[in-house]
Amino acid sequence: MTDTSTASAESVPLAPRAWPLLGHALPLLRDPLAFIMSLSGYREMVRVRLGPSSAVMICDPDLTRQVFLNDRTFDKGGPIYDRIREVIGDGLSTCAYPLHRRQRRLCQPSFHPTRLAGYGAVFARAAAAKAGSWRDGDVLDVTQEMMTLTTRATMETMFSGALPAETMQRCLADTAVIVSAFFRRMMTPALLRRLPTRQKRRYDDARTRLAATIAEIIAERRADPTDHADLLSTLVAAVDEESEDGRRQLNDAELADEALTFFLGGMETTAITLAWALHLLATNPDVQHRLKAETDRVLAGKKLDPAHLPSLGLASRVVTETLRLYPPAWMMTRVVREDAELGGVRFKGGSTIVLSPYLLHRRADLYDEPDRFDPDRWLDAQPDRATYIPFGAGARKCIGDQFALTEAILALTAIVERWELTPVGDQPFQPKVETSLSSRGLRLRLTERRPSGAGDAERSAAAPLSASVQPSTQPGAAACPVKHGK
Ligand code: HEM
Repeated sequence: MTDTSTASAESVPLAPRAWPLLGHALPLLRDPLAFIMSLSGYREMVRVRLGPSSAVMICDPDLTRQVFLNDRTFDKGGPIYDRIREVIGDGLSTCAYPLHRRQRRLCQPSFHPTRLAGYGAVFARAAAAKAGSWRDGDVLDVTQEMMTLTTRATMETMFSGALPAETMQRCLADTAVIVSAFFRRMMTPALLRRLPTRQKRRYDDARTRLAATIAEIIAERRADPTDHADLLSTLVAAVDEESEDGRRQLNDAELADEALTFFLGGMETTAITLAWALHLLATNPDVQHRLKAETDRVLAGKKLDPAHLPSLGLASRVVTETLRLYPPAWMMTRVVREDAELGGVRFKGGSTIVLSPYLLHRRADLYDEPDRFDPDRWLDAQPDRATYIPFGAGARKCIGDQFALTEAILALTAIVERWELTPVGDQPFQPKVETSLSSRGLRLRLTERRPSGAGDAERSAAAPLSASVQPSTQPGAAACPVKHGK
């Protein structure tokens, strides 16, 4: 029976400045963030048109949460997911509701807190090696540097240290090609996407090679299934006890999809978060100064270690605040699977819903001085699960949230311990809106903090990473001081 007390989605107000045929395509392409923020005056929802199709953007935190929590009705799907599936298949982040619960059960053990402590040791070593590879006075391409750091650390934690240097280099290069081409392909109409251009060939080759490399690694691991204490070992061993025979495991194709999902999904988001955090520190020298003081007090001349995490309160708040101001997943979409009601509005099956952490995180009625970088706003406040959503929420919440936070806090600490960061030029740096809220093109100048010679031990740590991840003997030792509740 139809509920006559609810309004139809067509009655949701249309955002202003829609052009006759194009709808809001021009302002969205010209300056997507300004367009999204221009909608913040709508308290509940607003309709946006792109050519002939329209989507409803949810502006209210409680309605956003209802969408996240009802993942059976508000499911993943639609053209954006079709593009993502081209690369990572039907892995955990792209699969639709009917497949999701089982995949999540199989992947969850890979992110168990007992594993995180071991991953933390890899992150600390990788960050010290990266910080040790720079020279006084260098001007860094920050995003590029953070991408190589997180790619390396992700490779190490996923496939342990046993990867030959040549394989590692190949994966790094292929990943860079895929990530840089991805957004362009998402925005290009299907017909043009199929044209055999040089860029398309590079992208296809990189995708095929990366998939083949991962298939090779999986085949080797199947032949030697001992626990390497990395993500892949846990995925290979995972058993779905709730399956019909209680013994269902991931097959090779599923394993490859999940490995690619973790690899590509995890390293770019974390790299961007780190780049923005460094930018915010460079432009807020008082916070940078306090962070250096915290680093000195906590490390007290010792090597950075995941056991330091609970004492790195300011570093943790800097990461929390960075993710508020620059959530890499600035926008997410859902498709309505069957007719449904939300906030007194009837949505037909097939409608598209847009959610935006960027919009919620910068609403003046939810945050005091929302555009100001103020890590201390988190001093006595835990992030609210409706208004702070850099990792999403509900059953589809980021499975790698603690992994990413651990990596980011340790990396920031390792960098600030050794380097002072200052902006290059006096122009404010603006995000590039791509699949993520990209920091591409960000450059910062480095000044070494210590007298020369004092850091030789760490500089020698710039050698390639090789030791494998060790499982933790202290469950929860790497537990992050930031808690994002469900
Ligand atoms: C700062 C870093 C990160 C951010 C901001 C981030 C953000 C997000 C967000 C917003 C979602 C939910 C998307 C949606 O509901 O549409 C998500 C899902 C996901 N993330 Fe992350 N992520 C980060 C790091 C990572 C890492 C390090 C990994 C893996 C190693 C990872 C793996 C995943 C996976 C597999 C999903 C899908 C979960 C599911 O559907 O059950 N992410 N992430």
